[in-house]
Amino acid sequence: MPYSARARSVEPFLAMEFAKRAAALEAGGRSIVRMNIGEPDFGAPPAVLRAASEAARELRLTYTGALGLPELREAIAAFHLRAHGVRVDARRVVVTAGASAALLLATAALVDPGDEVLVADPSYPCNRQLLSGFGAEVRLVPTDASTRYQLDARLLQAHWSGRSRGLMIASPSNPTGTSVAPDELQAICAFARERGAWRVVDEIYLDLADPVPGVARSALAFDDQAVVIQSFSKYFGMTGWRLGWCVVPEDMVDVVERLAQNYYICASTLAQHAALQCFSEESIAVCEQRRAEFAARRALVLHGLHEAGLRVPVPPDGAFYVYVDVSSTGLDAMSFCERALDEAGVALTPGHDFGVCSARQHVRLSYAASRAQLQQGLERLGGFVHGLRQRPTI
Ligand SMILES: Cc1ncc(COP(=O)(O)O)c(C=O)c1O
Repeated sequence: MPYSARARSVEPFLAMEFAKRAAALEAGGRSIVRMNIGEPDFGAPPAVLRAASEAARELRLTYTGALGLPELREAIAAFHLRAHGVRVDARRVVVTAGASAALLLATAALVDPGDEVLVADPSYPCNRQLLSGFGAEVRLVPTDASTRYQLDARLLQAHWSGRSRGLMIASPSNPTGTSVAPDELQAICAFARERGAWRVVDEIYLDLADPVPGVARSALAFDDQAVVIQSFSKYFGMTGWRLGWCVVPEDMVDVVERLAQNYYICASTLAQHAALQCFSEESIAVCEQRRAEFAARRALVLHGLHEAGLRVPVPPDGAFYVYVDVSSTGLDAMSFCERALDEAGVALTPGHDFGVCSARQHVRLSYAASRAQLQQGLERLGGFVHGLRQRPTI
C-alpha cells in the first residue's frame, strides 16, 4: 500500500517501543523493572472508580457535545481557580481525549504548512511529529543545564526568524522534569504575543510540581491568549481513561469545536462522568498525598543514581522524570538502554526520543513506579553500571 509521505515520516515513539520490548521480555518470563513510561502506578482516585461503575450501570452513555460535558467544563474552570488562582470562563475549557488530543486540536487550529514553530531540544517527541504532520517546520532550540533544559526569552530571541509563527513549551517538562520559572514563562509568552505569535503551554505536570507559595505558575495567570494543555493522566493518575482538556482563547472555541467534532466527536462519555469526581475534597486529598509520595520517590531515585555514579545535571522539580547523563559509562544512550534492558532487566528511554543536542548522552528515567520497584531497579542499574566500568567497552 502506498502510504502518505506524512505517515512515512512519523518516527517511532521510543518510550513506547521500549515498553513493547519490555512486555515481550516479561511474556518470556523475565523480570523487568519499568522505569521507561510516565504512568503513575496508583490508578484513578477511588471516588472516580466508584463513579465510573455507577455511570456504566445507570447511564446510556451517548455522545457528549464535542467540547465536553458542561458540568465537567465548569468543574475544570473551578479547579483552575482553586489550584492556580486563575479565573477561567468555562466556555473556554475544551474536554479532550487526553492531552494528546488537545495538542492535536491546537496544532490543527494554529499551524499552516511552512510555518516555523519553536520547541525546546529536548522536549516531548509527539509535538514534533504533530507539527510536522501539519506541515510546520520545527525549529529545535538546543538547551542545556544552564536553562534547566528549557526555553527562555533569550534563547527565543536568538532563534526567532521572520517565519516563526508560534512556540510549544511544557512546564514542567518531559523528559527532564524541570520547570520554567514563572517570570521567565511570562517573558516567553510576552515575547510571542508582541510578535503576533501563538504559544501552546503544556501544563499537564504542573499540579505535581513542588509548590511555590504565593507564586502564580500557570501561563493563564499572565496570558489569557495562551493555549494551555492539561490532562487527567498524571496528577489524577488516569492515563488509560484518555481524558484531558485545554483552555483556549475565547475566539478559538468555535474552531476547536469544529475540529473536535470531525476528528473524534467527543472524549469518552464514561470517563467524563467519572472525572467529575476528580475535583471532590476526597479526590484532591488523595492526589495531594500522591504528589508527596512522588517527592519521596524522587529523593530515593536521586540518591540511587548518585550511588551508581550516574550524574543528574539538573534534578527535577515537577514531573516524575530524571534526565540522567550516562556518558561516563562509555555507552551512548541507545546502547545503554538496550543493554540495561537485556542484561539488567531495567527499562529506560534513550534521549534520542526527545531531540538531538544532548540525546546521545542522556536517558530518561521515570519514577512513576512504586518505591519497591524503583529500589529494585536502582540496585540492578547500579550493578549494571559497575559491570560496565569493570569491563570498559571500546
Ligand atoms: C508533556 C506531555 N504532554 C502530553 C502528553 C500526553 O498525555 P495524555 O496521556 O494526557 O494524552 C504526555 C504524555 O506523557 C506528556 O509527557
